[in-house]
Amino acid sequence: MKPTCPAPDETTRRSAGAARPRRTLADLPGPRGLPVIGNLHELHADRWHLEFERWWRAFGDVFVVRMGRQPILVVAEGELVRDVLQRRPAVFRRTRAIEDVSREADMVGLFSADGEAWRKQRQLINPTLHARHVEGFFPSICEITGRLRDLWSRAADERAARDVLGDLMRYSVDVTSTIAFGRDLNTLGGGPDALQEHLQRVFLGLNRRILAPLPYWRYLGLPADRAYDRALLAVKRLIFELVAAARRELEGGAARPARPRTLLELMIVARDGEDPRAHLSDAEVYANVLTMLLAGEDTTANTLAWILYYLASRPDVQARAREEADRVLGGGLIPTLEQSKRLEYTGAVTQETLRLRSAAPLLYLEANHDTVVGDVAVPAGAGVVVLTRATGRKPEYFGDPESFRPERWLGGASPMLPHEPRMALAFGSGPRVCPGRSMALLECAVTVGMVLRSFTVQLADHTAPVRERMAFAMQPEGLRIRFTKRARARA
Ligand code: HEM
Repeated sequence: MKPTCPAPDETTRRSAGAARPRRTLADLPGPRGLPVIGNLHELHADRWHLEFERWWRAFGDVFVVRMGRQPILVVAEGELVRDVLQRRPAVFRRTRAIEDVSREADMVGLFSADGEAWRKQRQLINPTLHARHVEGFFPSICEITGRLRDLWSRAADERAARDVLGDLMRYSVDVTSTIAFGRDLNTLGGGPDALQEHLQRVFLGLNRRILAPLPYWRYLGLPADRAYDRALLAVKRLIFELVAAARRELEGGAARPARPRTLLELMIVARDGEDPRAHLSDAEVYANVLTMLLAGEDTTANTLAWILYYLASRPDVQARAREEADRVLGGGLIPTLEQSKRLEYTGAVTQETLRLRSAAPLLYLEANHDTVVGDVAVPAGAGVVVLTRATGRKPEYFGDPESFRPERWLGGASPMLPHEPRMALAFGSGPRVCPGRSMALLECAVTVGMVLRSFTVQLADHTAPVRERMAFAMQPEGLRIRFTKRARARA
């Protein structure tokens, strides 16, 4: 595999503090696997993250699995995981399949770009997600949260259990599309929207292709792939039209807005402070608007669904969070921006949920050059999987790691229990850490604050297990919640 970045110097090649490598991939423990296919047959379509974590418990923090004939290094030790994530983009990159599949769709945006292309995009796009812009989007988030409240109020009146993940997916689609390009799809309101259907097809198709062992779609025209191509074309046309319209509006005329109102507009006006000539082309704006929809939707919806799961299954946690919401919100039903920042216990519930049920429990990377991880020599082109959720479940970083204890984030856990927040890696780490973190946390605070003020939540069926399922992000399968209106909210 050819390196894509200039060769880093010796200090970036090696893990921080590493000595000379003592082991190669061939020396590492790992599951045996079969000839030719290696361990591929053990990775079940929608639960493969659990398989990696099972191997981690069996083989320890550094082991090897085989995808076909290719050995892949798997790392779960916190310092090593952080070190690998930190040495991007020079030494490690996201697995090449992500960029290849995205390039075919003309959408090499911030998530899929690498090397210098990524660096340029990161410099220009990161500021568009800074808190001051995100806070500008607050009224839209509140309006759509009000719609979610109406939906769940009706469910409470009808005593009907809800598939909350479905509702939250529609909620986050509405929020993200409004913020990204100023079009409220109102999928929560039930309006059938072709764009939403196209987006779903595109996301599923991308995911399928990134995970496929072979690029079969280049040779076979399966119906699902033809549908993906059509959906992609429709999305592309629409976003390019929106980019052109926003450019016309921003570049003059009496109707020019006083300040950019959407992520798309912010991207169009983005300039690099050091090099004001550097800006994003229409193709890059398109790629990144789609990237925001992709990266922001499922992750936030799944996190919110898992938070509801914990509130519903832990009445003590729900009671404490409700007491806080009543105190902070007073008579209000949806938190204001200032109130959402004061929901400390709710924030701790979110952190604890992310630690145990991270939407992205592992990340796939690739070595650009021969390098060293800990004491292991890693050749150029080798795959490296970092188990970011596993680091948050290690007793040396988080005492009593399997228990859901929000108070550990408030300094209220026993001083005897280790607590290392820097090892909670649900948003990744290093130069490619998630830039949408503040937006996601704000959405969580507003939505959970709204739920606590208006409803009590219960699992619809305490006996039915809620299982982890890996789709685009890790989701709770079989989660159904019953909402009951609270007396004060009813009044
Ligand atoms: C709870 C919700 C979210 C979770 C758990 C999450 C998690 C992650 C993770 C694990 C990464 C990879 C980080 C790394 O490689 O070190 C990532 C990257 C990214 N996320 Fe998020 N994310 C969330 C919400 C959002 C939102 C709301 C947006 C934008 C609207 C967003 C945009 C992105 C982008 C653009 C990247 C790529 C950054 C880069 O490669 O430079 N995410 N996210």
